[in-house]
Amino acid sequence: MAAVFALFLVAFATVFGSSAADPDMLQDICVADLTAAVKVNGFVCKNAANATAEDFFFTGLAKPGLTNNTFGSLVTLANVEKIPGLNTLGVSLARIDYAPGGINPPHTHPRATEIVYVLEGALDVGFITTANKFISKTIKQGEVFVFPKGLVHFQNNNGKSPASVIAAFNSQLQGTQNIALTLFAATPEVPDNVLTKTFKLGTKEVNKIKSKLAPKA
Ligand SMILES: *[C@@H]1O[C@H](CO)[C@@H](O)[C@H](O)[C@H]1NC(C)=O
Ligand SMILES: *[C@@H]1O[C@H](CO)[C@@H](O)[C@H](O)[C@H]1NC(C)=O
Repeated sequence: MAAVFALFLVAFATVFGSSAADPDMLQDICVADLTAAVKVNGFVCKNAANATAEDFFFTGLAKPGLTNNTFGSLVTLANVEKIPGLNTLGVSLARIDYAPGGINPPHTHPRATEIVYVLEGALDVGFITTANKFISKTIKQGEVFVFPKGLVHFQNNNGKSPASVIAAFNSQLQGTQNIALTLFAATPEVPDNVLTKTFKLGTKEVNKIKSKLAPKA
């Protein structure tokens, strides 16, 4: 009997554990109180009687973002930090704009799968699996591509005109780790000899990369 129960537990954990994204909700709404001193896994709910349409509304994706920066791209997030009503709902959006030649450089989202819909232009996109297989494609206006949860991926605008996508995530706060910035622009710095040994580079080359990626003061 105990063995059957254990088997059931394993099956349950496999089916639900592997398909889970953000935890399921326990009430209709839980508008984030972003200023609350109490921290939980997510945000505490403000009084439901005080919820308004504004808590579920955002205009920030209507216009293209400014792409005149180091990478020639800008990610505008529409997550729980911008839309408090998303708290506990397990979804969010972003808009990403790319200048001609711009790139959204290799990065991961620890908490979400991403699906993008191309609004304008064309992009070379790809992700790398944990088996180190590179999966890539060129996608254009009206097309959709998926980046599985946690895998390193990028979008590169090799065209001569701007591009943009709407991205959806199965998390209220997908989180992003940009590989280059994580390693070469962390605060405090990742020690040079971690980077020289990892990338088989000299200290001079490592410091050159660090200086190019350092946050602008
Ligand atoms: C709800 O709104 C009322 C009126 O604006 C305010 O007095 C009260 O502090 C709010 N309650 C919470 C829990 O935010
Ligand atoms: C980017 O362009 C905007 C609007 O044209 C301008 O205000 C801003 O200073 C520019 N930023 C950089 C880093 O050049």
